[in-house]
Amino acid sequence: MINEKVVLVTGGAGYIGSHACKALKANGYFPVSYDNLISGNEAAVKWGPLEVGDIRDRQALSAVIKKYRPASIMHFAALIQVGDSVKNPAEFYDNNIHGSQCLLEEARQNGITNMVFSSTAAVYGSPLSDAITEAHPLRPINPYGNSKLAMENMIRDYSAAYGSQYAILRYFNAAGADDDGQIGTAYKTDTHLVPLLMQVASDKLPQIQIFGTDYDTHDGTAIRDYIHVMDLAEAHVLALRHMMKNKGNLTLNLGTNNGQSVREVVNTVRRITGHTVPAQEFDRRTGDPAVLVANATEAQRILNWQPLYSDIETIVSTAWAWRRKQNKQGHRGAFAPDTEQRRLAA
Ligand code: UFG
Repeated sequence: MINEKVVLVTGGAGYIGSHACKALKANGYFPVSYDNLISGNEAAVKWGPLEVGDIRDRQALSAVIKKYRPASIMHFAALIQVGDSVKNPAEFYDNNIHGSQCLLEEARQNGITNMVFSSTAAVYGSPLSDAITEAHPLRPINPYGNSKLAMENMIRDYSAAYGSQYAILRYFNAAGADDDGQIGTAYKTDTHLVPLLMQVASDKLPQIQIFGTDYDTHDGTAIRDYIHVMDLAEAHVLALRHMMKNKGNLTLNLGTNNGQSVREVVNTVRRITGHTVPAQEFDRRTGDPAVLVANATEAQRILNWQPLYSDIETIVSTAWAWRRKQNKQGHRGAFAPDTEQRRLAA
């Protein structure tokens, strides 16, 4: 018998997946994390069981589904570094696309009809307008975006043919950490702006490199829509509830409708951490658009969702609190860096 409260969370030991598990539990669900721990952290799984496995391992997936009988899946497990995807598309297509098809097949064969999918603004490619709606053309510009769009299309095709339901959620720039300090990011090789700034403020990196100061923006640096990971997590729960109640499909942007420039983020970090945060100006990073800001009014309207933590001060102060906790634990506390975790899991 399927259990309406059980949610299989692929990538539940990862950054956004673990925050989603916390929100699920707070809303009366039972999250079962399924994660291969390649980049996830065992210690981030605190709100339900962890089953260690790969989404490409259908036997393992099938066993977990039969054990817990989830009615729904939240699918976060994926490779996500854009630069890596350019160097090694084979790995991305195998892990993300083939892995998602394994998951969809196991869901279909076991009667799981609800899926919330972790998609990205990368499916839009180079933006044609400043505030992107869901109707913006889908033209990814790197293998990561291609893989996420292929995953979206598979989910839609399965829904049309086999009657399953989906909520596809396209995130803009996820950042920040749990405000109780229980979870956050823990990647040794992060490429994202806010975690890198936390490293500079902790004297683990000498400076931040600002990629591009000649964009056509008010201060010359690129503008992004930073959305707090707790607001993302909440939107996932609302989307799941909406889907189960109203029996319909959703494709929604998750962002704030507001942008911050790189310099504005750097200045906020200086203010909140009290660190000088040396910055060096560099050329633009290949493939970076000048402005990437969501029009997320559909998500706000349909899900009755309001980002509560996504002002840049709260994003930076929660990320900083998390980082300081990590620093105190010398990375040997609750969250080992991913390489160490991999060794422990081997
Ligand atoms: N940046 C710097 N210095 C750094 C790192 C980043 O100046 O050391 C700048 C980038 O050039 C960009 C902004 O800070 O203008 C944000 O960069 P991130 O790397 O934090 O995030 P991205 O906007 O590149 O990535 C996000 C998502 C991806 C998604 C992509 C779509 O994290 O998953 O948007 O464009 F693919």
